[in-house]
Amino acid sequence: MDIQNNRTEQLRKIKDEVVALKDSPLYKERIKNKTFPVIGEGDHYAKIMFIGEAPGKNEAETGRPFCGASGKILDELLASAGIERKSVYITNIVKDRPPFNRDPLPEEIRIYSTFLDRQIDIIQPKAIATLGRFSMDYIMRKFGLDNEITVISKMHGKVFYARVNYGLIKIIPLYHPAVAVYNNNMKQDLINDFKVLEQFK
Ligand code: URA
Repeated sequence: MDIQNNRTEQLRKIKDEVVALKDSPLYKERIKNKTFPVIGEGDHYAKIMFIGEAPGKNEAETGRPFCGASGKILDELLASAGIERKSVYITNIVKDRPPFNRDPLPEEIRIYSTFLDRQIDIIQPKAIATLGRFSMDYIMRKFGLDNEITVISKMHGKVFYARVNYGLIKIIPLYHPAVAVYNNNMKQDLINDFKVLEQFK
């Protein structure tokens, strides 16, 4: 089996496991609402991995990350930096939709983050761009950067470094695109922050 198939195969295994996951309270929601888990999509060799929070309504109905209002903003931000959506990998910490889009609970993050950890190991991105405070918090802690954590308004757009088993990677906390749906100033902040990602095209 070549490397390409190997990555695809490993990611497919994650998908199968999430589909079969019954441990999470969100699994019951998925069955009740006849929705889908959202595993992730994009290039399995992406240099940049975007990590959001959890699927919203559109995402749970289609099984695709960032395909609703926040996704439209994300697409605009990618375009502003000249980055093709298909060249990056996009996923979330929590793979099922929390009811009424409430914040994910610590227990849900604990259950689903094991899949995210494996996705990072498989894709081996050079940069991880977190979208919103939940993924920022999780990723900073995962890479031992606990002491650097403050509020997202102070961290967005900054670059942090982490050593991983395949080299040195950059972690770039970003605001969640949802903040820009009705707020053009926030959108401008996001556009400015996305310029940091141009080096990974
Ligand atoms: N918000 C997220 O955090 N993730 C999505 O996939 C969609 C909206």
